[in-house]
This record gives sequence, structure tokens and C-alpha cells, in this order.
Amino acid sequence: MRSHNCGELREDHIDQEVRLCGWAHRRRDHGGVIFIDLRDRSGLAQVVVDPDNLEGFALAEQVRSEFVLRVHGRVRRRPAGTENPGLATGMVEVLAGQIELLNRSEPLPFQLDDDEIGESTRLRYRYLDLRREPMQRALRLRHAVNRSLRGFLEDQDFTEIETPILTRSTPEGARDYLVPSRTHPGEFFALPQSPQLFKQLLMVAGYERYFQIARCFRDEDLRSDRQPEFTQLDMEMSFVEEQDIMQLVERMLRQLFRDVLEEELPDPFPRMSYAEAMNRFGTDRPDLRIPLELVEVGDLMQEVEFKVFAGPAKSASGRVAALRLPGGGSLSRHSIDGYTAYVGEFGAKGLAYIKVNQRGSGKDGLQSPILKFLPDGVVEEILERTGAADGDLVFFGADNSEVVNASLGALRVQLGKDQGLVRDGWFPLWVVDFPLFGYDAGERRWVSLHHPFTAPVDEDAERVDHDPGTARSRAYDVVLNGSEIGGGSIRNHRMDVQQRVFAALGISDAEAREKFGFLLDALRFGAPPHGGIAFGLDRIAAMMSGADSIRDVIAFPKTQKAACLLTQAPSAVADTQLRELHIRLRRQPDEGSTS
Ligand code: AMO
Ligand code: AMP
Repeated sequence: MRSHNCGELREDHIDQEVRLCGWAHRRRDHGGVIFIDLRDRSGLAQVVVDPDNLEGFALAEQVRSEFVLRVHGRVRRRPAGTENPGLATGMVEVLAGQIELLNRSEPLPFQLDDDEIGESTRLRYRYLDLRREPMQRALRLRHAVNRSLRGFLEDQDFTEIETPILTRSTPEGARDYLVPSRTHPGEFFALPQSPQLFKQLLMVAGYERYFQIARCFRDEDLRSDRQPEFTQLDMEMSFVEEQDIMQLVERMLRQLFRDVLEEELPDPFPRMSYAEAMNRFGTDRPDLRIPLELVEVGDLMQEVEFKVFAGPAKSASGRVAALRLPGGGSLSRHSIDGYTAYVGEFGAKGLAYIKVNQRGSGKDGLQSPILKFLPDGVVEEILERTGAADGDLVFFGADNSEVVNASLGALRVQLGKDQGLVRDGWFPLWVVDFPLFGYDAGERRWVSLHHPFTAPVDEDAERVDHDPGTARSRAYDVVLNGSEIGGGSIRNHRMDVQQRVFAALGISDAEAREKFGFLLDALRFGAPPHGGIAFGLDRIAAMMSGADSIRDVIAFPKTQKAACLLTQAPSAVADTQLRELHIRLRRQPDEGSTS
């Protein structure tokens, strides 16, 4: 149908006859001459229709936005002064001969070049939204990401293997999406939260190097970086230790950034223990672009008069930490109040601070609501430790460690953004030495920090039984600019260790057998040592394309309420379908949901 793509025309093509196809991006009438910007996926070309081209002109007059056209014409140089250097094809235009109308379009619900379109409108008419250049660019970048990763793994002798979507529950910590079975009345499949168990079985099966670009389903609260269905680059390898996986993954990510963005990632990636990340940044996914750090001051506060500080300082589960903001002395009372409210969202009961006007003048050079409670020596040591200089401000958090970490960790990021302290560039790191378990105080039981198939560090295997809180895991996460992009671990390939972990989690033998009997069976038949990792592909693509939300790199995403506005899913189904599935509803869909 066509000889060239619209976006491809250059001065080299001048005097050539071309046939172009595309959408009428814009039509302008200029004193008897009609200009049509014709758009296909490669870009725009300006088509000129002269009035002496009677038939073409008559048709061009009917053309409206997004009509689909085929244009035969001759490329010519744009008249001097009308070139558009902002457009790749801006030096030339196509003088139209014959114009064919391939299809009409009704007026669109929004202008494609409008940047302010509401997201629900975009999602409702996603196929139009996807016509827009930023979306085209994002989805093509995502394709380039997949291609680079696939290419790398192919070169490293990985086998791409698909695993089932209709399966059993895989424990990754979220709620399952369930699918009722027609052939087994009253029974349900679960959609996989990840291919975790299948990839382990593939190691038992001797494939040694597996990967999959795998769809995963998790019914959890959604945020800008979470979708109910999302895509992982999922990998597993046999006869490996942490170092093997980490090195391979680093090479893969370095190649990815080189291929797609022509950017160099550090070699090697820095590594940080979970404990260090929590101490210095209050989070296990530190954004290393921001040069602010939490500083421990609890040891200075144990004897002070100020109970708010002394209490947590003396408690084993408490923490008192400081966060210095260089130049923060100029923050207004109003903005400090704003930050106090912000940390309140994370449970902090206040946000003490010291403004440093003149460090040389002792307490007289400082400004703070807590000075009166603190001895001179303590104040001096705080300033020393935090490296405070004239013009700085030091914030404080005191509470149990979780609250201090969550609130000062979030404050650190917020201050970084507000004060323009976020450096450009890519700052990946490995977070390692996670505890195997965390204690869920609400449910009063140990839970896996990663998932139950993660191996403890060899020396800590005994502790799994009698002191689970101190057992370290063989898990590792990859963090990039404050976002957890991937996580994995060395697995339990020995049955006895796997059983210990289940026991510590309060999973009885009977329950383990019921839920994971197939895995336990497989571990009996010569399971090799193995481990792997999975990456959030949506997150990686979103970061690489500069998108704020992973929805911008997913062709047909769901809303915050886990619905698809385009297809109106989920939706009610016919009674006959329910009957076939042996299901009776407790509540009709139009009665609203229970929650
Ligand atoms: P994990 O649960 O850490 O590990 O998931 C791996 C990565 O997937 C991404 N991710 C998500 N992305 C978008 N929406 C979501 N709802 C969502 N949930 C997770 C994150 C995360 O780092 N089976 C293990 C991996 C392994 O041990 O090999 C697993 O699924 O970027
Ligand atoms: P108060 O004595 O309650 O007026 O508090 C004095 C200062 O300490 C105020 O600036 C409060 O914001 C701050 N503050 C109170 N509780 C905490 C806390 N748990 N952590 C940090 N600062 C706090």
C-alpha cells in the first residue's frame, strides 16, 4: 500500500514519487491551500494539497482529525522560511496527487496532543491514548527492554519455559485471584503470584538455567508501582551460589542499560546489608541519589530529661535518630509544620529539630524546641556526629524503630525532592543479609521476609528452630533509585531444611503436605542446589522511560480499584455460567460490594 513511512522523508527524497498511509493528525486551511500532517508510527509528514488538484482538494476538504488516508505525491523542498527544524521531516513536504480516504473517524473524545487528559478517559479509550507519541515511545522502549534481556539470557544458555496460569496458590504474601473449576465442583484454581514453585521444579527436572517473561497476579492494594497483574523477568539456576547469580544479573542489567539507554551502570553494584540500609536510610530500598542519611543518637539520649527521647533510647525496640538537612536553616515554620504532618502519616508523634545559626556560639547559636531538655555536651555531640554546619537543620525521630525508620526514611526522600537534592543518574545496589523471618505482631507469628522457599545461611540453619528471629537468609534484592526492581534467593534444596522453615512459620506437616506436597516430593528426588531471582519488568520499563507510574508502560492496565475501564472488567456473568460453575452468589453484583 505504501512506498515510505511518513517519518522517514528527508531531503534525499526530494523529487521522488511516494505513497504514504496514516492518520490525519492535523488539517489546516491556508488561503486556498490545505495542509495535512499525516501520521504513522514512524512520525509526521506534511502533505500539501493545491486547489488546482480538483479531486484531491475536494477530498482534503472533508478530512477531519484521525481520518485514515493514503496519499500519492511528490516530495519537494519546503519553501524557504517554512522549514520546521523541530520535525525530523521538517525540511520537506509532499505535494499531493491522488488522495484516498481509507476510513473516517468520529470526533475523538480528547485531543491526542493534549497533555492534561484525565487518566480515566485515557484508560476508557486506551486504543486512542496509545496512539499518542509518548505511549508509542514507552511501549517500544518496553519491547527493547524485553529484547535485550532475552538476548542476554539466550547468549548465556538459558531456556525460556512457560509455566501454568491455572494453578495452585503460590505464597508470595498477597491474596490470590481464584478461578472456579467447572469440572471439579466447589474447587478453584489460583492464578500464580509468581512461577516460584514451577521454576524450582524445573531445576529438579535438570534444566539448570530457566527464564520466563511471566505474568503474575496479586490481589493487593494498588499503588503507582503495583498492578494486580504484572510481568516479571523470572530466572532460576542450578549449582550456583549468591555470587554467581549476582554477577550474572549485574552483567545483564549493565547490558540492558547500555542497549536501551546508552547508559553505564556501576561495575560492580555496591552491596549493603539490610541492617546498614535500615540504619542509614530507614528503608531496605534506599534511594542513593539523595545524599542525606540517618544518624544514630540513641546512646546520647538515654539519660536526658526529655522522656520522648529517653524512653525509646533505653528501649531495645526503640530508636532515636537524627537527619541533617544542609541549608535547612532557611526552612520556614510553616514548612517544618508541613513535614511534621508528613511524618505523622508514618506514625511519628512529632518532629523535633535544631536549627544551627552559629555553631561557634554554643546553645545561643541554635534554635530549637528541645534545647532546654538537652545538656550542652549532648547537643555538641549531636552536631559533631551529624556534621552540622551553620545554616543547617537537624531533624529528630524518636519512637520504636519501625516508626522512626518509616518516618525519617520517608522524610529523607521528601526533603531530597523538595530541596532539589536528587542527583541525576542511576544508582543501583544489592541489599543482602536479610533476616529470614520477621515477626508479625498482629498475628503473633513469624512470617517469611522473602518467601518460605528461601534458604537460611548455612550456619544459621539450627537457629531456624530455636531462635528464628536471628536466622539470616540467603536472599538478595536489587534496588534502583529507591525502587525495588528485583528480588531472589538461594532456595532450600534439602527437604529437612525446608521442613524446618515450614515449622518455624507455624505450617504443620499436614498443611505443608496439603499445600506444597508436590514440591516436598520433588525435593526427595535429587534436587540440585539452586537459586534465582525475579525482576519487576513493568517497574524497570517505567523507570527507564521516565514514567511516573507503571500504568504508562502497560498497554492495557487496571485502575487503582483493579478494574479495566476499557473492557469494563470485572463484570457480572450469566446465571447459566454460574450454575455450570456450581456457584451461587451471596450478593448480587448491583447490590454493591461488602467491603
Ligand atoms: P517478589 O515478590 O519480590 O519475588 O517479586 C519480584 C519483583 O516483582 C515486582 N513486583 C511487582 N510489580 C508490579 N506490581 C506488583 N504488584 C508487583 N509485585 C512485585 C517487584 C519485585 O521486586 N518468586 C519471587 C522471586 C524469586 O525468589 O526468585 C518473587 O516473586 O519489582
Ligand atoms: P513537646 O514537648 O511534645 O512539645 O515536643 C517538643 C518537640 O519534640 C516538638 O518539636 C515535637 O515535634 C517533638 N517531638 C515530640 N515527639 C516526638 C517524637 N516521638 N520524635 C521526634 N520528635 C518529637
